[in-house]
Parts: sequence; C-alpha cells; structure tokens
Amino acid sequence: MNDATRALPRLGKIGYGGDYTPEQWPEPVWHEDVRLMREAGVNLVSVGIFAWALMEPAPGEFDFGWLDRVVGLLHDAGIAVDLATPTAAPPAWFFRRHPDARQVTREGHVLGGGARHAFCPSSRAYREAATGIATQLARRYGDHPAVALWHVHNEYGWASTPCYCEASAAAFREWLRQRYGTLDTLNEAWGTTFWGQRYGDWEEIHPPRLAPPGVNPAQQLDYVRFTSEEYLACFRAERDALHQLAPGVPVTTNFMVPNCKWMDYWRWAAEVDVVSNDHYLQAELADNHIELAMAADLTRSVAGGRPWLLMEHSTSAVNWQPRNIAKTPGEMRRNSLAHIARGADSALFFQWRASRFGSEKFHSAMLPHGGTGTQIWRDVVRLGADLSNLDELVGTRVVPDLGIVWDWESWWALELEWRPSVDLGYLERLSAYYERAWRAHRTVDFVRPDSDLSAYPMVLVPSLYLMSAQAAANLAGYVRDGGTVVVSYFSGIVDETETVHPGGHPGALRELLGLSVEEFLPLRAGSCVRLDGDLTADVWTERVVLAGAEPVRRYLDGPAAGEPAVTRHRLGRGTAWYISTRLGGSDLDAVLADAGLVPRDGVPDGVELVRRASDSASYLIAINHTERDAELTASGKELLTGAPCHGVLPLPAGDVRVLRAAS
Ligand code: GAL
Repeated sequence: MNDATRALPRLGKIGYGGDYTPEQWPEPVWHEDVRLMREAGVNLVSVGIFAWALMEPAPGEFDFGWLDRVVGLLHDAGIAVDLATPTAAPPAWFFRRHPDARQVTREGHVLGGGARHAFCPSSRAYREAATGIATQLARRYGDHPAVALWHVHNEYGWASTPCYCEASAAAFREWLRQRYGTLDTLNEAWGTTFWGQRYGDWEEIHPPRLAPPGVNPAQQLDYVRFTSEEYLACFRAERDALHQLAPGVPVTTNFMVPNCKWMDYWRWAAEVDVVSNDHYLQAELADNHIELAMAADLTRSVAGGRPWLLMEHSTSAVNWQPRNIAKTPGEMRRNSLAHIARGADSALFFQWRASRFGSEKFHSAMLPHGGTGTQIWRDVVRLGADLSNLDELVGTRVVPDLGIVWDWESWWALELEWRPSVDLGYLERLSAYYERAWRAHRTVDFVRPDSDLSAYPMVLVPSLYLMSAQAAANLAGYVRDGGTVVVSYFSGIVDETETVHPGGHPGALRELLGLSVEEFLPLRAGSCVRLDGDLTADVWTERVVLAGAEPVRRYLDGPAAGEPAVTRHRLGRGTAWYISTRLGGSDLDAVLADAGLVPRDGVPDGVELVRRASDSASYLIAINHTERDAELTASGKELLTGAPCHGVLPLPAGDVRVLRAAS
C-alpha cells in the first residue's frame, strides 16, 4: 500500500464515523459525543455541512469560535475531521439579498426557503458567496492537524431539477457557443429544420421550459449536460480556493451514485481528489443488497478502481421513503462491510446523533434518540471493533471479473419523452444484467463506452441507446481482439446529438452485431412472448434481419414469431451477442451462460464474494445474505475473528468473513 492508492492518506485506516452536527446541541453534549465516539471507535466525522448561517450569521460577519472548539475537541480525542463547506444551505440573508439566486422550476415557479439546495447553480452571487465562505474556512483551518479532508457542499444535484431562470438561460447560451461555435452548427446538431425551430440569433435560444409536448430532444439533452457542468463549475470554484490556500488536504464532494441521475459522474470523478459516495438502502426492494453492490461497484468504477470513501449510509431506517423499514439484526453490518468489500476505505453514516428537531428527526443515527441502551448503539460499537481489524485492507483494490458499460448521457437520452415504449428504462436494464452477474458471484467493473476494455474477458452492454461512432468502434475493436460483448435491445440507435445513425437500426452496431433491426415491435402492457428453449420475455421485440450473425434462439410467437431473438456474430477473434427482447431472471441467465457468464463454482446462492488485493496480499470478503449457514473452500487467516482457516471457511447465516488468503 502507498499513499497514492489510499483513499485518505492522513487517516491510514478504515474511516469510521459520520455527519456530526454539534450546532444542534448545547456544548456539554459535545463532550459526551466525543467520549462516545471514542467508545465506538469513531475516527472520522464530517462537520459543518449545513452550518453556513452559523459560520456567517450576517453578510461578511464570521463566527468560527464554536467551530474552533469543536475541531479542537475532536483533535484532542484523536478524531480526524472531514471539514465541510456549508454551501448546500445558503443562509436566509443570502436569498433576501439575492432573490434572483433562487432556483426556478421548468414550470416557472420560484423555489422557496426553509429547506436547503434552493439555489441556482448559474447564479454569480451564489458562486461568489460560496467561494467566499470556502476561502474563509481554508484560511482558518487549512493547516489544522485535525483536518484530513475537505467535504465541498453536499450532494450536488440532489434537489436535482435543472434551474430554468434567466441567469441559467444566459449561461446556457454561452455554453452552447463554446460547444458549437456557430449557430449553423447548433441548428444542424439540434435538427432545427424539424417543426421549423431554426435559430437566427443566440438570444432566441432558451432552456427547454415547459412547452407543448415534444420539446426538441437534442435541446433537452444539452440542457442536462449543461446542468451537470454548471454544478461542476460550482464545485471547481470552491475546490480551487481550497487547493490554493490549503494544499495537501484532499478535496471531495459526496456523490449519489446511482441515485442522482443528473450528474455525469464520469466527468465529476476526474475533478475530485478522492471519490466519495452516499448510499441509502431501498428498504422495500427485494434483495436490496444487490442494488447496494451495484452502487458500490459503480462508485469504485468512476473512481478508476481506486479506493473510495463511503461518506453516508444509515444504521437503520431513513425518514424519506414511503415506509421507512428498520434494518434487521446484522443488516447494517452486512451493508457496511459490503461497501468495504467493493472498495470503500470507510464506513461513514448519516448521522452521528439523531436530531431532536427538523425534518430528519425520524432518521436513524449511530447514537439514536434512545442513547447507548439500544441495539443500534451496541451494533455501532461492534462494527467499530470489526473495522479496526480490517485496516490492512486500506488501499487494496477490488479484482473484477467482467465489465458492464455505463453511460449517463445514454441514460438521459433514453428516458426523454416519446420513445417507442414507456416500458423502456435505463436503470431497469442495467440492474437486470448486474443482478445476473451478482448472482453468479462475479464482480463487475462499470466502464465507459469508449474506455479500454482489454482487461475484461466479457463486456455487457445493456440499452446503450446513445452511442458515438467512436464508442462503437471501440466495442468493435475489443471484439476483434478476442473480447465477448452481449448487447441488449435499443442500443446504438442515436449519436450524441440525438440523431438516428444512418442506414437502419442499430446504426452504430450493425457491423459489430452482423444484423439490422428492420422494425421495433414493442409489446402491449402485460403481454409476453416465448422463445426457443422455454424462455419467456416481455416489453419489447424486434424484427431482426441477419447479415452475418447466426440465430441462437428464435421467437416462437408474438409479432416476430419465427424470427431471430438472440443472435451470435463472430468477428475477428471475438464474439458479439445480441438480445433483442427483455429477458430477466433465469431466462436471462440461460442466454448469458451461452455467452460465457457462468456462476462461480462452489459458492452457495445468496453469498456475496469479492476479492480485494494488493501486490503482496489477497483478501476474500464473503457475506452470507441468507438464513442458512454456508461454507467456502479457502485457507488463510480470518480477520474479524482472528481464527486461522485450513481449507474450509464456515460462513454462518447472516454473517461476514474477511479472509487474508494464504499465499
Ligand atoms: C442524504 C443527505 C443527508 C441527509 C440524508 C438522509 O442524502 O446528504 O444530509 O439528508 O440524506 O438520509
């Protein structure tokens, strides 16, 4: 391990702690907090996230006395600080002074106060004020030995509608000038001959505000790109101020992978010193630990495989889901360790101590309303002890088995209005394919469509609707060199400007797949089709015309009866598979197995198995999500119990084991 591979060099161990809001409590409670943090093994807390109004009670008047005392107390107790710029919650005085900095919805409503995040990312006043408070913090705490990390803002894009105000419109025009250079190029890219939308002056262009249905999809797509970039510009402004005044302290901002649809985290990840993510379990989702694993794998992937920080998750229920289901015994521990298994170097929570007031008072915490006499507290103390046995994992890297292509732009484009079926969904397909890999105990790296794929024997490409010619060439090159791709329907249809690739669907992929799609044949709600081999599919079928590919399974009924449903095309030294309909569960397993994705031998169903490794050691993290005891074949030293293991690793129901493998 060296510093370059650790998520947080100053900490040097697995981070444990959470969001800490001393500003909500009288000072004597802070002393109790720090004592209990030590008892639980807490070593890192995030401070100040929403405390702008306390740091700067009036414009230009600062009060850092309370924060000095908090940071000092934590430092004396050996607890590192992830110090936040509080810019997700501008003070009431800011909006009074700058009413134009409020966000405006697509319908034209101006967002009110009393919450957080209501600012416009293109507002000059907001950017100046945010950079101003970040600068104050950097000056005051930049060389404080407690400060291990800067936590800029909180979950950019969380409120997540783009802003449609006049300042945003002006910034959008400027962004478009940079992107297209001339109006002719923009008119061409946006296809403005359609419905006579041609622009003759930049001032005629507006954000895609509420309008009769069918607003130009290229304009809408560009507005999402622009919004992601505007928030990123806010981040960069704060980050640069911090870097300048406090060099050496890494800067992060907490992502919401994959639940914030509107930020292109491939681009964001390139701008942070360390990637961090917030993840909340979807309590009512069956087998929700698979969605957790997908989020963790995607976070590690945007981090380029480097270790990352789990900035927030919950000890038990949240407060914002329709039914806030409490975690079952052992679930928090499995969740935290699953993130660690998939490359996190920390397990941090929202929040340290439950708030008594405000809109999150029913949210779980490390220290619940019931205090230290509770099961949650006992579990928190136990997890702290567990993590202290895992410090040697810090900086090690997850070993992947296959790649799945993930692309935010394609997600945005696929889910614009007026698609061939309302049943098309990006996350639905990504999750369906990911789940099959998870159930086969195979670890997934998510990859960009244009990234180097040569490390993976197989790459899955679910519903990559928008695809550049360059990405298509990249996939084809990968297959020619011996790779296997599995492409699902409605992929390779349009280019970056939402223009259909020429020559018939799927324009970007016809050559690679050895076929064309003559017509989309979406199905009626609730209807199914049958395929060879006793498979059932729904939602979508196509009229596939072969041009080099061989049929592997055909439709037995439905609008494409008798025609190819699943095909295989050998190209160069590799193979390109195509699945033209929606398969799930064991039906999808059957096709993926034909393509080479088979379950790992000797691992029982419901057991999650991931490997992290460094140059000198290899670790197996096994999580039993079932109610049955299991065992694995392995040897080494088990780190949570300290027990040596010779050949058989027992994995009790609901439990976790971390094995340093015998070399
Ligand atoms: C996160 C947010 C936290 C808190 C938490 C509740 O999205 O960053 O501040 O609101 O949700 O689950």
